[in-house]
Amino acid sequence: MSRSARLVPVGTPALAALLALTLTACDGGVHGTPGGSGVHDPYFPKAGNGGYDVTHYGLTLSYDPGTHRLTGKAVITARATEDLSAFDLDLKGLDVEDVTVEGSRARFSRAGQELTVRPHDDLDKGETFSTTVRYSGTPETITDPDESEEGWLRTADGALALGEPTGSMAWFPGNDHPSDKASYDIAVTVPKGLQAVSNGELTRETTTGGRTTFAWHTAEPMATYVATLAIGHYDITRYTTKSGLPVYVAVDPKQTEASRKVLAKIPEIMEWEEYNFGPYPFSSTGAIVDRPDDAGYALETQTRPVFPGAPDTGTLVHELAHQWYGDSVTPKTWRDMWLNEGFATYAEWLWDEDHGGDTVQQTFDAVYDGDYFDNADQAKAIWAFPPAKPSSAAHISDRPVYERGAMVLHKIRQKVGDDTFYDIIQGWAAAHRHGNADTAEFTAYVEKMAPDKDFDAIWDDWLYGDGKPDHR
Ligand code: TRP
Ligand code: ZN
Repeated sequence: MSRSARLVPVGTPALAALLALTLTACDGGVHGTPGGSGVHDPYFPKAGNGGYDVTHYGLTLSYDPGTHRLTGKAVITARATEDLSAFDLDLKGLDVEDVTVEGSRARFSRAGQELTVRPHDDLDKGETFSTTVRYSGTPETITDPDESEEGWLRTADGALALGEPTGSMAWFPGNDHPSDKASYDIAVTVPKGLQAVSNGELTRETTTGGRTTFAWHTAEPMATYVATLAIGHYDITRYTTKSGLPVYVAVDPKQTEASRKVLAKIPEIMEWEEYNFGPYPFSSTGAIVDRPDDAGYALETQTRPVFPGAPDTGTLVHELAHQWYGDSVTPKTWRDMWLNEGFATYAEWLWDEDHGGDTVQQTFDAVYDGDYFDNADQAKAIWAFPPAKPSSAAHISDRPVYERGAMVLHKIRQKVGDDTFYDIIQGWAAAHRHGNADTAEFTAYVEKMAPDKDFDAIWDDWLYGDGKPDHR
């Protein structure tokens, strides 16, 4: 609901009804205003919504791969951050049957990805409120500005939900922006014989009447874009690591053979990452491996990254490193993507260095010189824009965000030395554990950790500067 729409004169019954709806009186006066669509993300302005902060999603879903039909109930617990007469949820496609807020029927309307809810009673700033949305339909695959596909993907034997950057709205209503993290309970009912795998820990698996329900619990805050759901036939492997961490790995049977050796490295990689990045921030780990054409790319879905076919070790190291950098410390906006991808790429380089491969300095030099890449176009593309300022939404996952982001970290390491560098990357993960952070907070943190050093040239040339820096 735009501001101007609320100011039209009362001329028709429809407009009168609209006004009555919007200008909800409370205590004799109007106190709430609509929360607003979007949270002013510089790259995805409609993503997320203003006026509230979600603390918990309770999703009860049912899916039938035969008909591709999803039936859902979302119970969203949130705290109002302002007085609200209305608020938006993000939801793309699907039919909404009804919405209640605090148990009372609410009016709602839809426009694009915005589901606008007008509660029966205004919400007060600071109030915790519960919204229930019942919905169903055939979930959509979303094509991103960079042409990649996310949201709800049909697979050879089921479906796969991936959400970076804005795909969660294809399968549940919510505040679809990384700045609003919440805990989750996701219960999924599928035809008996299929598995449903999601984030966190499996708390219940029950079969009745030819259908099986899998209930998954995520206690730690999770951004919508790393929520996942995989439905299909999977070979499941469960165990606990030496340090007692539960591992749940689901592999498409066609990928089992090719994946076995690399997935067996999960405990070793986790141990190495804990040593380098600090304590693991979540209560379980694992992986989901689908077929290469089911998922076009790997994604760091929380506790259980998704891979398109058997990953190589570097990709496994990368997605597990994201659990610290991306999933636990989550960017405030999509502009801060390099804080995810630069760190996860640097983790791959470090892994090589620690396991008899190239040193990070050698990798850095190869990127700078162009030898790292398969062809001259890629070698040039890395300098297309600075890591902290992607040129547009279509480019938030381009090379500068990855390798050049990693180069920023290496420049910091060169300046401060190994001891302080590891203090910085571990301290950063600890300082913002389960939270959000942006680039300015990162540079301030680095400066605080090495007060006698001058980082201006690194920030100016490597982080924010256009083009290839003159010297390495
Ligand atoms: N984050 C993924 C990785 O591990 C890559 C990716 C997939 C991505 N989808 C995206 C990045 C959408 C940005 C936007 O590298
Ligand atoms: Zn990544």
